Amino acid sequence: MMLFVQSLAVLCFAAPGIARTLPKPLVARQDPSATTGAPAAQSTICGDIVDDVNTEGANLFWASDAYACLTSVPFNPAVATRFLKYWNETIQFQTTLAYLKNPPEGYQQPAIDVLAGLQEIQQHINEGYYTNQYAFEADFQLLIFAMHDAHIALTAGALSAFSFASPYEISSVSVDGKQDPKVYITDDIIDSQDEGWEPSPIRTINGEDVVEYLTKYAALNSFGNVEPHADWNALMTHPAMDIQGGLTAFSGSGTFYPGENLTFTFENGTNLETIWLAIYNEEANFTGPLTTGGDFFNYFVLGLLPESFDPTTLQPPQFSDIPVQTNWSVDSFGAYPEDPDVAQFDLSVAGGGIVTGYIIEDISTGVLSLPSFAAVSETIGNFSSTVNDFIGNASAANVSRVIIDLQQNTGGATILAFSTFKSFFPDLVPFAGSRRRSFPMANTIGDSTTGFWDLLNEDDEDERLFKEEIAATEWVITNRLNAANGNNFTNWEEYQGPINDNGDSFTLTERYDLANPTWQSAAFDEWVNDGYLGDQSRFSKGDRAWSPDQIVILTDGLCSSACSLFVEMMTREGVRTVVAGGRPSTGPMQAASGNRGARLYSADQIDDDILFARSIDEFVDESANGTLPDVRDEGIFIKFAGFNLRDQIREGEKIPLQFKYEAADCRIYYTLANLYNMTRLWRDVSAAAFDDPSLCVEGSTGYSTTNNTNPKPPPKLEDQKSLVLTTPVTEQIEFDDDPDGGLQNAVGANRGGKDIVACTNGACTDGISVCRTVPVKCSNGKTINAQACLPPCSNSGPGSGCKGTCNVLQKQESKVSSSRGGARQPFSGQLYSGLCFPNVGTRNLGCPANPKTGR
Ligand SMILES: *[C@@H]1O[C@H](CO)[C@@H](O)[C@H](O)[C@H]1NC(C)=O
Ligand SMILES: *[C@@H]1O[C@H](CO)[C@@H](O)[C@H](O)[C@H]1NC(C)=O
Ligand SMILES: *[C@@H]1O[C@H](CO)[C@@H](O)[C@H](O)[C@H]1NC(C)=O
Ligand SMILES: *[C@@H]1O[C@H](CO)[C@@H](O)[C@H](O)[C@H]1NC(C)=O
Ligand SMILES: *[C@@H]1O[C@H](CO)[C@@H](O)[C@H](O)[C@H]1NC(C)=O
Ligand SMILES: *[C@@H]1O[C@H](CO)[C@@H](O)[C@H](O)[C@H]1NC(C)=O
Ligand SMILES: *[C@@H]1O[C@H](CO)[C@@H](O)[C@H](O)[C@H]1NC(C)=O
Ligand SMILES: *[C@@H]1O[C@H](CO)[C@@H](O)[C@H](O)[C@H]1NC(C)=O
Ligand SMILES: *[C@@H]1O[C@H](CO)[C@@H](O)[C@H](O)[C@H]1NC(C)=O
Ligand SMILES: *[C@@H]1O[C@H](CO)[C@@H](O)[C@H](O)[C@H]1NC(C)=O
Ligand SMILES: *[C@@H]1O[C@H](CO)[C@@H](O)[C@H](O)[C@H]1NC(C)=O
Ligand SMILES: *[C@@H]1O[C@H](CO)[C@@H](O)[C@H](O)[C@H]1NC(C)=O
Repeated sequence: MMLFVQSLAVLCFAAPGIARTLPKPLVARQDPSATTGAPAAQSTICGDIVDDVNTEGANLFWASDAYACLTSVPFNPAVATRFLKYWNETIQFQTTLAYLKNPPEGYQQPAIDVLAGLQEIQQHINEGYYTNQYAFEADFQLLIFAMHDAHIALTAGALSAFSFASPYEISSVSVDGKQDPKVYITDDIIDSQDEGWEPSPIRTINGEDVVEYLTKYAALNSFGNVEPHADWNALMTHPAMDIQGGLTAFSGSGTFYPGENLTFTFENGTNLETIWLAIYNEEANFTGPLTTGGDFFNYFVLGLLPESFDPTTLQPPQFSDIPVQTNWSVDSFGAYPEDPDVAQFDLSVAGGGIVTGYIIEDISTGVLSLPSFAAVSETIGNFSSTVNDFIGNASAANVSRVIIDLQQNTGGATILAFSTFKSFFPDLVPFAGSRRRSFPMANTIGDSTTGFWDLLNEDDEDERLFKEEIAATEWVITNRLNAANGNNFTNWEEYQGPINDNGDSFTLTERYDLANPTWQSAAFDEWVNDGYLGDQSRFSKGDRAWSPDQIVILTDGLCSSACSLFVEMMTREGVRTVVAGGRPSTGPMQAASGNRGARLYSADQIDDDILFARSIDEFVDESANGTLPDVRDEGIFIKFAGFNLRDQIREGEKIPLQFKYEAADCRIYYTLANLYNMTRLWRDVSAAAFDDPSLCVEGSTGYSTTNNTNPKPPPKLEDQKSLVLTTPVTEQIEFDDDPDGGLQNAVGANRGGKDIVACTNGACTDGISVCRTVPVKCSNGKTINAQACLPPCSNSGPGSGCKGTCNVLQKQESKVSSSRGGARQPFSGQLYSGLCFPNVGTRNLGCPANPKTGR
């Protein structure tokens, strides 16, 4: 999923985290005999956890306690069935269903029949197979994880309450760049570098060979990658992640219960015994005193607050000022240089700045560091101008080689993929073709919306403005280009085909009309009004600073979404790629193994699109009301449900990029010396890419399609088993309809992941949200500035406690459950907190209404 970083100069970044200690088990309070005197009210493991959150502000627990809580949450088959129906309907929009079932040669993950998988889960529900909510949700998440597509995500239900974490971070590095990488505790790599000692690699984890253990762990917990090399890297700590405040799948964002104990045995024979942790993802006092598994069900699964919830206990978050920062050195434990040649304004984990640039004179190499494309409308201009400053400075310094460092770049704003491409190649128009599934529900929405848009009268001022505002919605097609002939599509019918491919139906291939300013400004906000991308672009007159063979892209395989679009556009022009890391085995590795689709879309956007199509039914007579559902019931409370609306399709091809084997031109290993020394890494990349191909990992070259008409065939798929949970769930929990003696319906409440509402007279009335003016993307694609009540949230895992995007604002103090003192080892991961921003705005935040219907 995309990680958004919001620039809010008034908010800020607190002092570095304090030392953390591990919690004690919560056993004492569960055992009635431990309480003296009169029989105390019966407490449960879930109740004890939430009590420690609310009274102590604790957010770290024993994983086994969280698991005991999760498996005490009852299961309700009717609720699960309603959810499955909603998701089944939504997933029809997912482009890859047929290809996942029958992938082409070269696809590196196991095939999966998603619809059959859903059917099987439904059958399990019907047969009473699920004994508690965790068993059901974990089974469902397995299906999502098996799709290996970072655009398909579900943050919902009881599982969103916790993420699992090793207290220690790990990294995989080679001692000399030639020998197979070994796995180390990350702190050992950093500390030994400073202190000059040899760290010892991990030999086993819980008695199992480290590579085998982590291979299984990665196959289960790494999210959304098309090959196991990228799944491996997703477990490993990296400085480009440190500067963004993220957590790895191993030490922070695990989804499935990993077990209780965690023992590392090093090659030198020493053991390190610790336990798996669970990070609780909701803020203190947010949920009221949830006391039972039933309360957990009501809050996390249904989105209801307990009646005893007291909003006056909430405390608005306090954020101090952000210190001005100019480099990434401190945030990356010394890995990034202290003196970048260019740096984006407001650079910091919490700030809006992302881009830095470096010139390494003695090897005539410029490095542009783009660890993310996640920017919002205010920071997009600064991102783009920093890229241009880098190009200006590096070309003035006459560097003959450029490295564009995309390590850990999991995407963000599509505009930045286009504008960055244009900054390097002002003279070129990228192909960037895409298509979607062609099926009745999508075609009804498209037919209606496009038909309505075409009807809007440009002579009427209100209608003209509305027409411009909704020009870039996904369902208007007559201002997008038919890739086959370069003309606008005449209507939705022309676009919908269907083209039959691999047993499914698809639309024709579409392209953005980058020369159409109205479309551009609707799609990419007002800041591009000076014609950034089209023929009138200020770049189009400029010359290229470098030819493609002078530029190399560096990734770690995790490049996803907008990042993979950028890599595709650049490599089609002959820019080469170097990929770093991967599993400890020689051979090629792909450069962009996250999602390679063209458009992330969410289930609630589809809900809005359906409502919109119904609202215009009287104007277009497309019988939308007859074919589209009215209000869709999500069944369970969903914070985010995403899918891939459009595939990327290469010119003249049919196979979606997602399923093509796209090896990097060269693969290198991280080394003890370069993992936490970016200058060293960039020198290693420059040498392997431009001086000496023998520095590439053995057998890793010759597989790339970059400028290469005849690459070697892709490697054979390793024998892979389908995903299974490590811990079977057997205990049967009875579902109690009314476990807490009454719950209040929190729909509309500004917390618990509910819709974000507008401020009232510049203030928020719920006691905890903070009123801020924020850019809000309306469902028609337009961005407005709205005064919104933003609730606090945490980025500690997939839950984040937010329906929308949790924007990191400060390092969070990690507090362990008081009832578990006796620290064994510190938690070395970083927790952050921030404010929850709306992903998509609605009328309640001031998005424009349709002038015809007034809604
Ligand atoms: C939760 O509310 C209670 C009652 O007002 C307060 O004592 C406690 O400090 C709050 N917890 C946190 C972590 O702020
Ligand atoms: C999903 O929808 C398809 C038709 O759209 C239907 O055939 C199938 O039974 C549904 N599956 C589930 C599990 O509801
Ligand atoms: C063995 O290696 C580990 C990991 O580098 C280190 O923490 C430990 O101190 C070493 N033990 C000995 C006895 O050298
Ligand atoms: C974890 O380790 C503790 C202490 O060694 C032991 O008592 C416990 O049984 C272990 N737990 C599991 C699930 O093996
Ligand atoms: C780099 O940033 C740190 C704070 O993050 C600052 O203390 C240091 O002075 C900066 N270095 C330079 C050369 O500006
Ligand atoms: C963009 O950068 C300029 C300084 O170069 C700064 O004044 C401006 O506030 C920045 N805008 C944002 C939203 O970061
Ligand atoms: C070099 O970068 C600075 C910002 O660091 C910018 O002000 C300047 O215009 C750039 N020089 C060129 C030639 O682009
Ligand atoms: C770059 O090359 C130009 C033309 O050869 C030369 O005039 C200029 O001095 C060089 N600049 C640097 C910083 O070396
Ligand atoms: C497509 O239609 C738009 C108007 O919606 C027009 O501005 C644009 O020039 C057309 N593009 C092409 C390639 O005909
Ligand atoms: C691509 O191939 C052409 C023709 O063989 C060659 O001139 C060019 O240098 C190659 N570019 C790269 C980036 O290898
Ligand atoms: C279609 O359904 C919507 C509700 O979703 C309703 O507001 C609208 O009036 C209906 N239109 C027609 C033509 O019946
Ligand atoms: C990082 O690597 C560079 C280049 O090899 C070297 O000059 C520098 O001393 C290294 N930095 C640290 C902190 O080891």
